[in-house]
Amino acid sequence: MGRVIVVANQKGGVGKTTTVANLGAALAELGQRVVLIDLDPQGSLTAGLGFDPYSLTRTAYTLLTRERVSFGSVLRTVNDRLVLVPASVDLALLDVEIGADTQHAFRLRAAIESSRVAADFFLIDTPPNLGLLTANGLVAARELLVPVQCTYLAMRGVRGLLESVGRIHDRLNPELELLGVLATLYKAGSEHAYEVLEELRVTFPSRLLSTVIEEDDAAAQAPAAHQTVLTYRPQSESAGAFKRLAAEVIRNGRH
Ligand SMILES: Nc1ncnc2c1ncn2[C@@H]1O[C@H](COP(=O)(O)OP(=O)(O)OP(=O)(O)O)[C@@H](O)[C@H]1O
Ligand SMILES: [Mg+2]
Repeated sequence: MGRVIVVANQKGGVGKTTTVANLGAALAELGQRVVLIDLDPQGSLTAGLGFDPYSLTRTAYTLLTRERVSFGSVLRTVNDRLVLVPASVDLALLDVEIGADTQHAFRLRAAIESSRVAADFFLIDTPPNLGLLTANGLVAARELLVPVQCTYLAMRGVRGLLESVGRIHDRLNPELELLGVLATLYKAGSEHAYEVLEELRVTFPSRLLSTVIEEDDAAAQAPAAHQTVLTYRPQSESAGAFKRLAAEVIRNGRH
């Protein structure tokens, strides 16, 4: 089975979905076979890749609520090496459907383990909370990637997040490791952003990834064109950054 990476931060708007889409596309460009999994009822990843979370019938929801649904049957093709398990809006009702009990946090893991999908990477996008969907992501994965927006308030939340993840690690998934903290939405030329980045370097000396994702309009525009930034603006700053991130993630996996 490939590497399973969950991208999580309970703070909203820090670049989780942007990271999943573009890191996935960059890994695929490097020849890796990648499965993206959208666990967010908002369906931003799904919509940004051109699928409609309001009308899809076989989605992550199907996978999490029905035992006999095959993993392959919910996949949507993005390109040769990139496929998506889409979200649907009914994911918001998952707690009601299967109960918020932590035993239900193992459903995604079971689905991935029993899938016969040949993939080098599974990248999981999660909603901005630590509810049952995020728990499913944290239990299914071996590696956690935490995007952090380069602002003071966003940075302050990271310690709390890592404490909550530590509890999930101890109780539900002792195999989970921190792949890294990723600085996102970095405003080039901003003194505040620079200071926050320095503080992240001091706080997470061995955990802060060396790739920094700068704020770049191309990254924000690509989903409206139903593309990743790698095809939308291949020469942009953020396309380059996500390629460097993909190379770094591949290197970090060779322990
Ligand atoms: N590097 C970037 N440059 C410019 N805009 C960006 C960048 N990364 C993300 N954005 C924009 O910032 C907003 C939040 O990003 P994104 O949706 O990836 O965050 P998120 O953490 O997934 O949010 P949520 O918690 O709501 O799921 C989006 O409008 C996105 O297009
Ligand atoms: Mg998101």
